[in-house]
Amino acid sequence: MKLMITGATSGIGKQLALGYAKAGHKVIACGRSQTKLDALAEAQPNISTLCFDLMQYDSYPALAADHGPLDLLILNAGDCEYIDDALNFDAKRFDKIININLIAIGYALQAWLPNLKPGGRLVLVSSSAQLLALPRAEAYGASKAGLSYLAKVLAIDLAKHQIEVTLVHPGFVQTPLTDRNTFAMPMMIGAEEAALTIMRGIAKGKRDIRFPRLFIWLMQSLSLLPFSLWRRLAMRMVSS
Ligand SMILES: NC(=O)c1ccc[n+]([C@@H]2O[C@H](COP(=O)([O-])OP(=O)(O)OC[C@H]3O[C@@H](n4cnc5c(N)ncnc54)[C@H](OP(=O)(O)O)[C@@H]3O)[C@@H](O)[C@H]2O)c1
Repeated sequence: MKLMITGATSGIGKQLALGYAKAGHKVIACGRSQTKLDALAEAQPNISTLCFDLMQYDSYPALAADHGPLDLLILNAGDCEYIDDALNFDAKRFDKIININLIAIGYALQAWLPNLKPGGRLVLVSSSAQLLALPRAEAYGASKAGLSYLAKVLAIDLAKHQIEVTLVHPGFVQTPLTDRNTFAMPMMIGAEEAALTIMRGIAKGKRDIRFPRLFIWLMQSLSLLPFSLWRRLAMRMVSS
């Protein structure tokens, strides 16, 4: 199988790249750091690399003829920053997070969806954060809610082109992204376990991959509460 992964230099994406390469698949690993990409390619001969910034929309590299067609396109790169003061809204931060987590996905689809062969699969990595309105997540939560909606529409519209879409909703995973958080992160799992769960789900042809199970159950249960009740709980969470 031939696949491409964005955000392959760190966290979940790195473990996906290593996991697929170890299993004998040809991986195109994308990232911004040539040094980190070189280290990946050195670790696994099945990994080739593409170095570019997903925020530079005009310079997405085309895939070389010997790269394609792809069986799997995993759009995993993303970032998380919080809005600390909603009253003095930081529009630049909002712009940055919406751009990397949502707008860049549109440019990636434009650039590489034509490389995905019929019978192939597009995988979009969203977040369980989008299941519930969480304090300070104005940017991250909105970007991932948009991404989850986009994935569902693509699952409908790409079906006639024999392209399947898988939407991934991870809970907390220990990566450089969550290492920055100072709040409690219940039921956090390691990046390797997260990647294995995603790979197993993809192998089974799942369209929806959510983990860890208990954490997702909790988030989904809370999302069923009347919003006025959840709002009160969330406000209490912030003030405690
Ligand atoms: N960790 C969690 O708890 C968690 C939970 C739910 C969802 N997710 C989602 O899972 C995905 C992977 O997150 P992670 O936790 O593995 O984070 P991570 O370790 O910080 O990795 C993020 C990856 O995205 C790349 N990236 C960020 N901005 C980029 C840009 N402008 N251009 C190119 N690449 C860029 C990073 O490259 P650099 O190395 O160059 O920065 C890195 O390879 C994200 O979409 C995240 O929202 C994570």
